[in-house]
Amino acid sequence: MQKVVRIAGDGIGIEITEAVSAILEQAGAQIEWIDARAGLGAYEELGSPLPDETVAAIREYKVLLKGPLTTPVGTGFRSVNVALRQHFDLYANIRPARTLPSIDSPFKQVDMVIFRENTQGLYIGKEHWVDEDKKTHAESIAVVTEQASERIIRAAFEYAVTHDRQKVSLVHKANILKFTTGLFLEVGKRVAKEYGSIEFEDLIVDNMAMQMVMRPERFDVVVTTNLFGDILSDLASGLVGGLGVTGAANMGDEQAMFEAVHGSAPDIAGQGKANPMALLFSSLMLLEHIGQNKVANNISKAIYKTLVEKKVYCTPDIGGKGTTQTFTQAVIDNL
Ligand code: NAI
Ligand code: MG
Repeated sequence: MQKVVRIAGDGIGIEITEAVSAILEQAGAQIEWIDARAGLGAYEELGSPLPDETVAAIREYKVLLKGPLTTPVGTGFRSVNVALRQHFDLYANIRPARTLPSIDSPFKQVDMVIFRENTQGLYIGKEHWVDEDKKTHAESIAVVTEQASERIIRAAFEYAVTHDRQKVSLVHKANILKFTTGLFLEVGKRVAKEYGSIEFEDLIVDNMAMQMVMRPERFDVVVTTNLFGDILSDLASGLVGGLGVTGAANMGDEQAMFEAVHGSAPDIAGQGKANPMALLFSSLMLLEHIGQNKVANNISKAIYKTLVEKKVYCTPDIGGKGTTQTFTQAVIDNL
């Protein structure tokens, strides 16, 4: 039995976590869940959106399955998701996007995995006013270090090797941001030399955006800086059906967090309309991470079977006529 921390989260988080847990149990996953709290519910009931006990549990058990958390807009506490990434130095955000059967999309044969650097770049919000009094002139600072670039690029190459992938594409804007993304590119070229069996290419981010829409099937493993990765990984999800059907992992050297990338969907919470697929795909990455690949493969096959034969059981967001419950039961029946 592997101990794994489980945060159901807010809104639909509770329904989809229940669905995913049921499927994993029926598939024979050897997991003992350690339930912990975070998000708006924890804030309202326990006084903190990220209680110390939750942080301690993640530190101890190292692996976390996390449902979506509500972040109040404008006021209130800061994003717990960002806090978790920073606290545990979860530097690699891994987002696979793969064409699924019977999901409406003009894009076919998409099968890419984006590695987004999660701790630096322009995304970290190091901003200031040049004229504090008038607030007419703002500046933002992008931070890129050799060390952080190397660990994310290496993670992408290691993934390519262990997952039988052929190519790593590095995305940058080194023609303009010559120091910051230029450094990222230089580190990429150096690391690539150590992986002779993996093809390496680099693309400028605007060209990448066009290529992903025109020829998404040409991409395999992609590695890029924080802000570019934020945008391109959502684009990649959009190619295969959206945030409701793609999973994500945030990996550090010690801890790993597997999460749904969509939010808590307060508009449909409690109505049985929530699609558990995104969290389910994230949980398959979790199973792989803890060495239970066989269970992950079986569930993956059952999801595909459910999508192909029984679209009637799927939730309305992907054109189905079913509910969270009917989808969950259909996957279990197809195991
Ligand atoms: P959202 O992703 O919750 O919802 C956007 C739209 O997609 C809604 O119409 C919703 O019904 C639908 N949707 C999302 N997930 C779905 C699912 N699994 N099945 C079916 N439909 C689904 O984004 P929104 O409304 O911008 O944010 C709501 C709350 O979630 C906010 O408090 C936000 O801060 C939080 N949030 C949390 C994230 C996380 O914990 N990783 C990520 C994004 C938002
Ligand atoms: Mg994003």
